[in-house]
Amino acid sequence: MLVLGIESSCDETAAAVVADGERILSSVVASQVPTHEKYGGVVPELASREHLQKIRPVVDEALARAGLDLSAIDAFAVTEGPGLIGSLLVGLVYGKALALSFGKPLVGVNHLEGHIHAVLLENRVARLSGSQIEAIQLPAVALVVSGGHTSLFRVEAASAPDARRFAYTRLGQTRDDAAGEAFDKVAKLLALGYPGGPIIDDLARSGNPDGVEFGRIKMKGNPLDFSFSGLKTAVLYRVRGTALAAEAEERRAWRKQAGRVSPQEVREHCSVATLDLVASFQNAVVTDLVERTIAAAEASHVTTVLVSGGVACNSLLRQRFAQAASARALTVFFPSPHLSTDNAAMIAAAGYYRLLASQRADASLTAHASFPLGSSRG
Ligand code: KG4
Ligand code: ZN
Repeated sequence: MLVLGIESSCDETAAAVVADGERILSSVVASQVPTHEKYGGVVPELASREHLQKIRPVVDEALARAGLDLSAIDAFAVTEGPGLIGSLLVGLVYGKALALSFGKPLVGVNHLEGHIHAVLLENRVARLSGSQIEAIQLPAVALVVSGGHTSLFRVEAASAPDARRFAYTRLGQTRDDAAGEAFDKVAKLLALGYPGGPIIDDLARSGNPDGVEFGRIKMKGNPLDFSFSGLKTAVLYRVRGTALAAEAEERRAWRKQAGRVSPQEVREHCSVATLDLVASFQNAVVTDLVERTIAAAEASHVTTVLVSGGVACNSLLRQRFAQAASARALTVFFPSPHLSTDNAAMIAAAGYYRLLASQRADASLTAHASFPLGSSRG
């Protein structure tokens, strides 16, 4: 079954063709970073307009790279939420129109489910191409950590008679900022560039992760929930009214004048104190993500952990998960960077299983800004 996936929930316009949920024939992602970087965050109206311009060329490119015509596609899968309504609607309406005009099935996919399927898909792709990588065993605990989300799920294959379905239980989620959002806001405060995650990841290699003491993030109530706004405010207090603030303003002026700059140049414009601050901030975020995810795996009695979403690209996060896994006999799976950030192959893969389970969207399919995945615990 050839599924064309479409993803437009935030600031990436993406289309992909996936065969039988296990072969990625093409995966095209058009980034809007140049549009949003001067604002230090995604501007929803600009994002919707850019999706409108890019959706057709991106879908055409995905088909061309797969060597297929639209008429060869067996079904369409589109992200229906959560996300920015104006952005979601572009992909959704385009997918609906294609499905309607070719008389093919359409299915809506939850974006978070897509991120989880990115890991499952890549594991199947790797095994199919002869890699010795272990097959993912469900149930698993999945951490979806991106610019818009930080959530923990228990993922299981539903039992017979409908073993093609997956079942999700939400174990915890952020009560305020997502982890990626905190990276982006700290980078904006310090005038380091956008998106902040990859830049901080890079700069942190030159800083001392224990240089600034932030303390553990404490949560009342559900210990598997997250909160990063306090940490972000702690960074702000460390900066406001100090030499770090003056340095950030100088960097802001330099960046404005210099235009596009390399990570190396940004590093040369950072003092040791700034590098220590970002390394310590990253250390605090990563420690919290790893500890709560491991606690979720232990509480759920599972030995498989899936980590996905843009922040899953973080090098310290990967390193810490690998250490935690080997110390506890857990197996942790990450997608490659291309499939960690927003893409449409993950939407096609998640959609494939919904289609196998005979799910179909009807004409009433619409976008949802908020769209919880699975049942919540308890
Ligand atoms: O999954 P994604 O592409 O979009 C959302 O669904 O949000 O994630 C984008 C987020 C941004 O906040 C970005 O700063 C963060 O992922 N990110 C990283 C890294 N690469 C991307 N955060 C930390 N370290 C990275 N290497
Ligand atoms: Zn995402």
